[in-house]
Amino acid sequence: MPSRQMSTETVRDTTVPISENVHLLKWVEKMAQLTKPAAIHWVDGSQEEYDMLCERLVEAGTFTRLNPELWPGCFYARSDAGDVARVEDRTFICSVSQDAAGPTNNWMAPFHMRRKLKSLFNGSMRGRTMYVLPFSMGPVGSPMSEIGVQLTDSAYVVVSMRIMARIGLPVFQEIDKDYKRVVPCMHSVGYPLEPGQPDVPWPCNREKYIVHFPERREIWSYGSGYGGNALLGKKCMALRIASSMARDDGWMAEHMLIVGIEDPRGEKTYIAAAFPSACGKTNLAMLIPPAGFEGWKVWTVGDDIAWIRPDSHGRLHAINPEAGFFGVAPGTSQKTNPNAMAALSRNTIFTNVALTPEGGVWWEGMTEEPPAECLDWQGNRWTPEIHRQTGAKAAHPNARFTAPAAQCPTIDPHWQAPHGVPISAIIFGGRRADTIPLVYQAFNWTAGVYAGATMGSETTAAAAGATGSVRRDPMAMLPFCGYHMGDYFRHWITLQRTLSETPGIFHVNWFRKDGSGKFLWPGYGENMRVLKWVVDRVRGRAYGREMPIGWMPRYEDLEWNGLEFGKDRFHQLQAIDRSAWRREIGQHEELFIDLHDHLPPEILYERELLIGRLSRELSRPRHDDRPEPVWWVDPDGD
Ligand code: OXD
Ligand code: MN
Repeated sequence: MPSRQMSTETVRDTTVPISENVHLLKWVEKMAQLTKPAAIHWVDGSQEEYDMLCERLVEAGTFTRLNPELWPGCFYARSDAGDVARVEDRTFICSVSQDAAGPTNNWMAPFHMRRKLKSLFNGSMRGRTMYVLPFSMGPVGSPMSEIGVQLTDSAYVVVSMRIMARIGLPVFQEIDKDYKRVVPCMHSVGYPLEPGQPDVPWPCNREKYIVHFPERREIWSYGSGYGGNALLGKKCMALRIASSMARDDGWMAEHMLIVGIEDPRGEKTYIAAAFPSACGKTNLAMLIPPAGFEGWKVWTVGDDIAWIRPDSHGRLHAINPEAGFFGVAPGTSQKTNPNAMAALSRNTIFTNVALTPEGGVWWEGMTEEPPAECLDWQGNRWTPEIHRQTGAKAAHPNARFTAPAAQCPTIDPHWQAPHGVPISAIIFGGRRADTIPLVYQAFNWTAGVYAGATMGSETTAAAAGATGSVRRDPMAMLPFCGYHMGDYFRHWITLQRTLSETPGIFHVNWFRKDGSGKFLWPGYGENMRVLKWVVDRVRGRAYGREMPIGWMPRYEDLEWNGLEFGKDRFHQLQAIDRSAWRREIGQHEELFIDLHDHLPPEILYERELLIGRLSRELSRPRHDDRPEPVWWVDPDGD
């Protein structure tokens, strides 16, 4: 049979190095001596290799192949119950000096950490295969991309990385051209196998270390096989190490989605937006314009990370360094995000969702009706009745889908452009029940940096700490900035000086509530109304009223076609509450105290200007009987 002959011919000896780069070969040899794997596999990134590794994962019990009629090309994995999320308290930035890492990062002296890692990795891959996995963050060969090589003893990581990044042969070819740019990434699940010892479906270790050496641009991850702890191209390289590279080289590595907004005439405007987790970033990245916006399109470039760099004309351009979506499954549905549902409908890896008897997956919020029964994320029988009695969830709140970006119906035709897409506006946002209006535009870049630096978001039930308390998360980078947060603000401020065109900076809040605790704004597709104002502002064709915190739209400045939304409600959404802003500025101060010796003076001046603008308004003699606690200067005077 010709096909048989073909497959014999194409079988590759995976133990033979694919690269000829002596530095790489030496490093692999040295790391193999340390970790003592049973075999070494050089990853070529082919479909055949992917299929073979998935088959191996099925045999090992890590993967369950889903029903191909329902979920073609999809697999299901259940992690260890102690390995379900990023471990921020086990994440370290080991710069030479502690001062360079700053007070918002965990730090250990590099010498001590290296000694610790050496002992952890000594023999950590015994009985396992060590995969040599080259990856490119950004399109292969793009001047905006960066390359890493991850040595890992997890086949789950290899197949997940094939979705999340560009991997394999073409990346080895890039390395053979120029090794200088490679970030070495060591990863072990920390579960060596002694001869005859049976494996477990999800090997990991109770002890976890996610370590970054920013000066050496090196990553070491031990003990976890999950998400950002193990897919080292994502948070470790594309944010923590890249933020440090970006500071040195004059660009920005940001926790931002990128979208292109196209109007009915075909004019396209790209926006980057930073939100902390649980603020609907993936939904915004895949927004479907609502009724009243016929002819408009929102194109997805990325949903999590943006690398932004001035081009030779001083205009900011951005790439999405990733190639897939590692999205939170619970809450994702045909209603909330049909584009994500289409993206994850095939060739997707699901982790910690529920498994249905038909060989499908389910999670809370996916359908209105839960399945009559299923196996929950830990493999226990789950029914709606069990949920009623015990409160048990079928899917873990951090259950994920790993889906190819190219499968998203709204993926932008230019999402892989080697020089990126031009960025005209930057949006910051958080989840705030009060104080912060739906939208305002910062007066200028520095005021925008201040708005981003003081960004806050309410903690949700899924996160540790009191629900509803505001956590400051500057630029949504608190867990991802690879150096001192004060220096990071300085980098933002100075970067503008290299630009010929400054993007507008905006702040949004989709989550403001009324007095009875109900959301004032419908959110989801209706956010398009705010995006349109943002586009019109940066294109110089929308009105903004000067208010103490920035430029704000009047009621008539937003497009209301297709939505019934009263003027009073809009004013409630945009209201600036005097006592709430006093508290807000007080909280900014708390963050600044921690960062004070690295804080750029512009941040302090911006704070003074804000206080000045607010207090001038507040101390103005009142000649009317408008109510005291909330003030809103209505542009119409009514
Ligand atoms: C993510 C995160 O997984 O921000 O994207 O935690
Ligand atoms: Mn993220």
